Amino acid sequence: MLTPAIDRDLIKELKDAEDERFHAARPRSAELWTRAWESMPNGVPMAWHRGSYHHLPMWVDSGSGARFTDVDGFTYSDFNIADMSMFCGYAPEPVVRAVSDRMARGNQFLLPTEDAIVVSEELARRYRLPKWQYTLSASQANTEVIRVARVMTGRDKVLMFDGKYHGHFDHALVELDETGELVPEEHGLPADVTDHVVLVPFNDLEALETALARENIAVVMTEPAMTNNYGLVLPDDGFHDGLRAATRATGTLLAYDETHTQVFGPGGLTAQWNLDPDFVAAGKSIAAGVPFGAWGTTDEIGMFLTQMKGPDGERFDMVAIGGTLFGNALSMAAARATMLEVLTPQAYAHTQELGTKLADGMRASVEKAGLPWYIPHLGPRAGYVFAPQPIRNAADGRATADEFLVRLIRIWLANRGVWEAIVGAGPVVPVPATDKDVDAYLDAWDSLVERLTS
Ligand SMILES: Cc1ncc(COP(=O)(O)O)c(C=O)c1O
Repeated sequence: MLTPAIDRDLIKELKDAEDERFHAARPRSAELWTRAWESMPNGVPMAWHRGSYHHLPMWVDSGSGARFTDVDGFTYSDFNIADMSMFCGYAPEPVVRAVSDRMARGNQFLLPTEDAIVVSEELARRYRLPKWQYTLSASQANTEVIRVARVMTGRDKVLMFDGKYHGHFDHALVELDETGELVPEEHGLPADVTDHVVLVPFNDLEALETALARENIAVVMTEPAMTNNYGLVLPDDGFHDGLRAATRATGTLLAYDETHTQVFGPGGLTAQWNLDPDFVAAGKSIAAGVPFGAWGTTDEIGMFLTQMKGPDGERFDMVAIGGTLFGNALSMAAARATMLEVLTPQAYAHTQELGTKLADGMRASVEKAGLPWYIPHLGPRAGYVFAPQPIRNAADGRATADEFLVRLIRIWLANRGVWEAIVGAGPVVPVPATDKDVDAYLDAWDSLVERLTS
């Protein structure tokens, strides 16, 4: 849908001018990109990355705290912090210290270090699930959760909510097309991938109950609040109680993916909202951007995973989990320092205070300009919906989306020293941010709102 009350030609004119300005001021990034085409498709380490922006890819020199600097010398207050994987900020001292020390003493042994126990105990305390296993990413953690759920239930399918993102693995890459049919989101997936997945609208308990009663579903996987594709979508009152009751009634397992929502507090929304899942999965910011994924579960499921094999050991039926580098010493050292020394209760409280200031300021600009936009807010996270009311599900999100306008917002902010990497995600205040960073965001936001409506 196109946003009413704003001249489309003006949006295009402003966006073209801002893209051009961004490009012209960054000759070193342009030079590196030209060279990079020789060795990488699209001239970037992940070809998809090129499609994220309409301007040239920016090359980074360094990051410190809530800001990073590009190779042309521009510094940005970062409000996406690498899609929340750097919520703790860049180069936090305790993590630099712990990782440097671990690296110097050996970083990977295919044997555990004591840090693994400390990390597991801390995750168990935060998420109130006693048993933990490790991967190198949230995608892999979710993959393992689904496999274990299949074994535990003897069922095949996973139910997710329309508009979700749980990572780049086969079963998470299906979506509903305009006719409501399940289709692969991208190329390269097995032809039958859609046979293993069910998608229903978020906040629709009736659709959920019908699907659980009819289909062979091992596990429901969801974020406690949806944070991907359509900004921030909050559950209706009673949604999570209904979800838990419906899964219990049908013997279906329940997994919360806290990969993004862990920024709302220690133990993420699972702890904050007193949720009662069978699994929690996460990655990204737990280890300050050092590759790390984790999933936690109950004692009962943990017992089932107690495996041994070999000529002198008992042979249990092995579940397909694990990898050579999973749970390595470096990741564990990083996770320990991040959770115990950086992501403290005080740090979360600070981001929540600044998050309120950010959302209030964005709302004030929009109201002053008379724009019919809703500003969602929870903890450190704000956003923008191009409609007067919050969205409740992906269909609402699609109906109010305006990708071109969002791309203008992004580039307008970037040219004013504010970075919001992911199109449509909305800003998140990272731990080391200060009032100065939030003021920079609000100044840039206000100037754009005024320019669009004057
Ligand atoms: C909720 C959620 N789960 C899982 C993932 C996958 O994380 P990764 O790409 O680090 O595997 C993401 C990434 O954005 C996410 O937002």
